[in-house]
Amino acid sequence: MACSRILGTGKYLPPKVVTNFDVMKMMETTDEFIVERTGVRRRRHAEADWAASDLAVEACKAAVADAGLTLDQIDLLIMNTITPDHADPGCAFFLQAKLGLPGIAVLDIRQQCAGLIYGLSIADHFIRAGTYRHVLVVCAEVLSTRIDGSYDGRNIAILLGDGAGAVVVGPADGTDKGIRSTLLHADGSGAKALYTAAPGSALGRKEHINKDDIDAGRIHFRMDGKAVFNGGVEKMSGAVFESLRVNGLTLADIDVLVPHQANLRMLEAIVARTGFPKEKVYLNVEEYGNIASASLPIAFDEARACGMIRDGSLVLLVAFGSGFVWGSALIQQ
Ligand SMILES: CC(C)(COP(=O)(O)OP(=O)(O)OC[C@H]1O[C@@H](n2cnc3c(N)ncnc32)[C@H](O)[C@@H]1OP(=O)(O)O)[C@@H](O)C(=O)NCCC(=O)NCCS
Repeated sequence: MACSRILGTGKYLPPKVVTNFDVMKMMETTDEFIVERTGVRRRRHAEADWAASDLAVEACKAAVADAGLTLDQIDLLIMNTITPDHADPGCAFFLQAKLGLPGIAVLDIRQQCAGLIYGLSIADHFIRAGTYRHVLVVCAEVLSTRIDGSYDGRNIAILLGDGAGAVVVGPADGTDKGIRSTLLHADGSGAKALYTAAPGSALGRKEHINKDDIDAGRIHFRMDGKAVFNGGVEKMSGAVFESLRVNGLTLADIDVLVPHQANLRMLEAIVARTGFPKEKVYLNVEEYGNIASASLPIAFDEARACGMIRDGSLVLLVAFGSGFVWGSALIQQ
């Protein structure tokens, strides 16, 4: 019997649609390259005055309403983002103020694209321990603020979109529904395969950031595309098999697989490697691009909304992100 379950989900996507042809105006690339290598056709971009916390507010309100709760019933707020409102303090504080929840505990996590999996695990453990009753986990990204269209930045820039997704976790209260397992992994030896060098304290000098960091592009994502691609295929496929093994299941037992929407080619490779039927895999990467941590909760919410995930469905979530970080969550919805 599970101890906690997902009570509600919500998402927010900014209305502005940015096609590959719009991206071609920002950098030297082609629609053909983007579609062939990543499968992405469109993504959303937030307006300039929308911060990560603003997108998160909308997703949180939707998730809390979907759970049949009110915001004042939330005991812990967990936020994951790689595009925080400010360098510090954590983005959860700014979100908390906007949600009007003074006094409750907040937690910023930096688990990159696996933020939902780690957030669910933390929520599950706090609820099992009886510390908190209702935990709100939100992932929000404004990756459009981090587009570098230079030669060194365009391999990742073409993927990026904006959005937010949230889930409310609460007690399973004796139902069959619930979080069956969360399995978490990381391997920091791969941290520089996708990272942003500056600002930082490991730059060999006493300045956290300087003009040369900007001129040299150290403030932008730098990605070894092949290492990330291969890592994502291997770790997300491994996460599927690990969850099946730990839970004593076979592929046929899983109703829906919701993977981190990194890149369509990567997801097709995972489908091929695991033998998972493609029609049971929820995909929206063509429509929204890669929204880092927000991709997974948005996909989960949409898979519920379109009826692919129903009451009682056994759903496997898998994610992989820079760090490297990866894992799975098995959920009886
Ligand atoms: C991004 C990706 C499509 C790039 O493909 P790749 O073959 O690995 O690309 P490389 O960086 O090795 O570059 C190959 C060529 O494509 C070019 N290229 C890279 N990005 C490009 C772009 N946006 N437009 C046009 N050409 C591009 C490179 O300049 C290079 O050309 P060159 O050999 O003439 O210098 C691929 O690496 C990938 O999908 N990686 C995983 C990315 C991902 O999912 N990240 C998110 C993880 S959460």
